[in-house]
Parts: sequence; structure tokens; C-alpha cells
Amino acid sequence: MPGVRENPLRLGVLVSGTGSNLQAILDAIAAGSLAAEVKVVISNRPNVQALDRARAAGVPALTIPHKDFATREAFDRALVAALREAEVEWIVLAGFMRVLTPEFLNAFAGRIINIHPALLPSFPGVDAAQQALDYGVKITGCTVHFVELGVDLGKIIAQRAVLVEPSDDLATLGARIHAAEHELFVSVLRDIAAGRVTPLAPAVPSASEA
Ligand code: GRF
Repeated sequence: MPGVRENPLRLGVLVSGTGSNLQAILDAIAAGSLAAEVKVVISNRPNVQALDRARAAGVPALTIPHKDFATREAFDRALVAALREAEVEWIVLAGFMRVLTPEFLNAFAGRIINIHPALLPSFPGVDAAQQALDYGVKITGCTVHFVELGVDLGKIIAQRAVLVEPSDDLATLGARIHAAEHELFVSVLRDIAAGRVTPLAPAVPSASEA
């Protein structure tokens, strides 16, 4: 069948914080319900919980502090080098709080996905759940999308709706969105592993383009 892979999907996961989405991915892999391997986890912030989660799962965990680099481009070059070294195919942004440069996007063209805690294009940027509460929307949710230049931009792959209850505050709504994210992210990765979601651009140029 076209698109069906023989080998596990090789993922590089970029994080900046807690890493509960990373944990959901690691748990699905460990349970045998996601045919993938996390080859490396990279954080731009030192000592975050996501790094501990990676190490606990036996996954190489690196810190590449963005503050060590004079420019975004130099930081992104270091990320690309580490991800290539780990031989990853797809890049998963799981709470990664840096905007990527064209150089990074081109290095993994069409194979970078992000998760966002709102139904894009509503409420991009930070504080998406608070924005939803402030607006008074009755339905919000989460989105997995391909990453294009900008903040929370790119073609949408999948979304999940979450109802906003009258009694919700940031903690209760945020927790339900987070739980929905964990399911949605794993579900999209299963689709990628099964060839149901394919890269936006060829991973390598075809012979006629080279
Ligand atoms: C998630 O809400 C994700 O949508 C956003 O950052 C948060 C990361 O959470 N981009 P965690 O670190 O995976 O727990």
C-alpha cells in the first residue's frame, strides 16, 4: 500500500517546558500504539521537566540555550545540526516557545508540526485558553498544524473541540484542552506513521529536480 512505512517514524521533539505532550507521545510509543521512535529531545531552556521525561524514557535529551547564540539563525543552525545528527525525519514542536527561521523550516520542509491550545486561526500566540475565556467563546479546543513562517501559522492537519463550561476558569479549561492535545497529537502522529498524513513538500528532491 502506498505510504505505509516499514520502519518506525523517527521524531525529533523540541520543547521548552513541562513536556506533557512529549510524555503522551512517549507513553504511546511505549504502549506499542504509535510506530515511532523519539530520536532526540531538545530544549532551549535548561533543567525543564520535559528533559527529565525524555531521560526517564531513555531518549537522548539536549539543551541548546537560545541565549548562547547571537542570532536566531545561528541558534536554528545549531538545532538543525543536532537534529540531523540524530537522523530525525519529522520535527514535533511540543510546547517549544521559539519562532523558527526560514533556514530551519527549509531544512525540514513540510515535516514540522506544532500543537496549539486553541482552534486556529482563533487565538494564536500565548495565553490561548485565557483568550478564549476572555472572548466568551463556548467552544475552543486544540490544533495540530504544519509549521510555516510566523506564530502558529500553517496548514491545519487536525483539530479537536473542547466545550467551555460556564464554571470554567483557566485551570479547569486549560486542563481539558491539555488532555485533548495529548490525544490529538498522538492521533496525528499515528496518521503520519501510517502514511495518512504526508509531508507538505518532498523530503528529498526527485531526480528530475536535483
Ligand atoms: C501546550 O498547550 C501546547 O499546545 C503549547 O504549549 C503547551 C505545552 O505543554 N504549544 P506541555 O509542555 O506539552 O505540557
